[in-house]
Amino acid sequence: MHLRDFNDSDADYRALVQMENQTWPDTPTTVEAQREMAAARPDIRWDQRVCEIDGSVAGFGSCGEAFWLGEPGTFHVYVVVSPAHRRQGIGSRIFRDLLNQAPAADIRTLNSGCREDQIGGMRFLQSLGFVAIDRDADSELDLARFEVLRMTERSPDPSPVQFRPLASLTENCPDWLERFRDLDYRIQAEAVAPEPLNRPSAEQFAEEHLNTRDFDPNLCWIALDGSDWIGMTELRPTADDDTAVQAFRTGVDRVWRRCGVATALKLHAFGSAKAKGYAKVVAYGDPDSAVGHIHRKLGFQFQPAWIGMRKPLPSPGR
Ligand SMILES: CC(C)(COP(=O)(O)OP(=O)(O)OC[C@H]1O[C@@H](n2cnc3c(N)ncnc32)[C@H](O)[C@@H]1OP(=O)(O)O)[C@@H](O)C(=O)NCCC(=O)NCCS
Repeated sequence: MHLRDFNDSDADYRALVQMENQTWPDTPTTVEAQREMAAARPDIRWDQRVCEIDGSVAGFGSCGEAFWLGEPGTFHVYVVVSPAHRRQGIGSRIFRDLLNQAPAADIRTLNSGCREDQIGGMRFLQSLGFVAIDRDADSELDLARFEVLRMTERSPDPSPVQFRPLASLTENCPDWLERFRDLDYRIQAEAVAPEPLNRPSAEQFAEEHLNTRDFDPNLCWIALDGSDWIGMTELRPTADDDTAVQAFRTGVDRVWRRCGVATALKLHAFGSAKAKGYAKVVAYGDPDSAVGHIHRKLGFQFQPAWIGMRKPLPSPGR
């Protein structure tokens, strides 16, 4: 067994792509896509190692600062071993080698992850001391088969709460922008708590939220208790599929939770999307969250979840 640096050759990229596609056949990649990902990485140290057995590639590993997290000292590790060579200690060798190469003093936490149906990958990370910290899954609702009326009859009745599309409130409610900004801020502030969230100015909010190309006030529904705005849900078109909208943001004021408000908001929004001709709603998030449970009840089909994993290191990093 021989470990060496990944070189930028087509041969190394082809071997990596072959192993990735054997491992993740439902999300195939290409040499070009891998090269693009590498080119898009900021100019930071990014170690990549190759394991060869008898001159052919048996595994890869990479380790570098998880720049996308904005947490200095958190490094991301990924290891993949060719299916024919698994359970022979190769993955562990690559992992140890990556840590030996890495700038130990800079590393405080190792970050990695795996899809829950990759049993080997999950067990491997657990055996190295990683623990799960979050769980997110893609899910999809087929709008053609989704019966809004039948689902409404089967859902709790949240009266006296009323539901309106934002498009109609922009015509009938003079201070709609202020109310919408306020509701959106309350929902987001709770989502990021305990981090403080700056309240955007009206101009900022309009610029960042309303004036974007994918904002559609007919796909944004508001829940009202009398004249109080107490909840919202928003769908947005997706960048890569004209037939799909994505569940963008949903929130209900704390005192109104568990009364069926979010379910009713979603039923209205999905009805609008269906009427506009969209074929599906896609979502990404924790299947065990409140919204995940609502989606499951409404008939979303979930893919296996991605499990984010962490391993704290005793300082200085090993
Ligand atoms: C994860 C992966 C790299 C492990 O490579 P490997 O060379 O088979 O790993 P090792 O032989 O070093 O295994 C080390 C330990 O991990 C655990 N493990 C690995 N695969 C396992 C499996 N299929 N079932 C149960 N435990 C497993 C065991 O505890 C094992 O020790 P043991 O064999 O003494 O019981 C390989 O399965 C793979 O390429 N999976 C797809 C990519 C992936 O999921 N990567 C994880 C994210 S970094």
